[in-house]
Amino acid sequence: MPMIIVSSGSNLSRWIDALKRAGPGIGVFMPDEIKDKASVRFALSWNHPHGIFREFPNLVCISSFGAGADHILSDPHIPEHIEVVRIIDPLLSSDMAEFTLTVIMSSIRRMPVFWQQKQTGVWKKHRYRRITETRIGVMGTGMIGHHVATILKRTGFQVSGWSRTKKSDPASYAKYHGREQLPEFLGMSDFLVCLLPLTPLTRGIVNKELLDMLPPEAFLINLGRGSHVVEADLLGSIDRGHVSGAHLDVFDTEPLPPSHPYWSHPAIEITPHVASLTDPTSVAPQIIENYQRLMDGKKLLNTVSRKLGY
Ligand code: NAP
Ligand code: GLV
Repeated sequence: MPMIIVSSGSNLSRWIDALKRAGPGIGVFMPDEIKDKASVRFALSWNHPHGIFREFPNLVCISSFGAGADHILSDPHIPEHIEVVRIIDPLLSSDMAEFTLTVIMSSIRRMPVFWQQKQTGVWKKHRYRRITETRIGVMGTGMIGHHVATILKRTGFQVSGWSRTKKSDPASYAKYHGREQLPEFLGMSDFLVCLLPLTPLTRGIVNKELLDMLPPEAFLINLGRGSHVVEADLLGSIDRGHVSGAHLDVFDTEPLPPSHPYWSHPAIEITPHVASLTDPTSVAPQIIENYQRLMDGKKLLNTVSRKLGY
């Protein structure tokens, strides 16, 4: 049984090599290389063109290349019986924690201001905030967010996490859940880190109402998906001086269009969806494991709930 690999990106050679190393003998093909479309039961996807899977009548499972599966679930042509699985990888979590730390440390030690001053040869000191004085709220404490919150707490920050369901595990950081506890959680977030999955309940969650509940001069770090943020509400909140700025790694449209107001906004930092990149060598074994499980009729790993959207 061949596996197909579909992505909007063009260079998949690192992926194909890693999959072939992890599963010698398994045929890995691009969709247009497959003659017998009915032979395909397993696909690997990142931002596939919607509707492409209609060509494969016996498909049983689609695996995401990454942690998020929103790009698969948003395709209305994928029948309900198809299982969707995703990546859970310690490197995705540790890379994300390093990125989050970098952004927060750079902000509290005023690095963007000093980089700006260097452009014009300005020698001016600015007050900084200490780690122990800084309150961070992590929205979404799943596989990645929980690790990020734990590392931030260990580093000395005051950390709170917010999730959909109540957590019963011993708290290394303060834990909140559900809409009712959202205002209290937000009120303690000088930095708000969004690590939610994109679902019908979380789309547009970072809107004016939510931003207004943050402490004055809070800073938003969006590492989840661009569509979590209502762009006009964020710009309005920054321009009113309530939110001090934002670091955005993910956008509604990627690449971010050249004319987008974020590019020229002095209080908005931009990175091109690089907070945590899936490492093909690290994750190929789990993709092959799911492929084997499918062949053997066993339960798949890391499944996504079609109902919850994550
Ligand atoms: P995950 O394990 O599925 O965790 C999702 C978390 O969000 C869980 O804690 C869940 O709550 C919470 N959640 C979901 N819906 C919610 C709601 N309506 N209200 C409150 N909390 C809600 O996901 P993950 O592996 O940590 O990944 C999270 C996201 O990070 C991905 O979906 C992707 O969008 C993003 N990501 C971005 C990059 C990047 O480079 N920028 C890289 C990797 C991932 P429960 O614990 O109660 O279920
Ligand atoms: C990246 O955004 C991922 O979901 O892994």
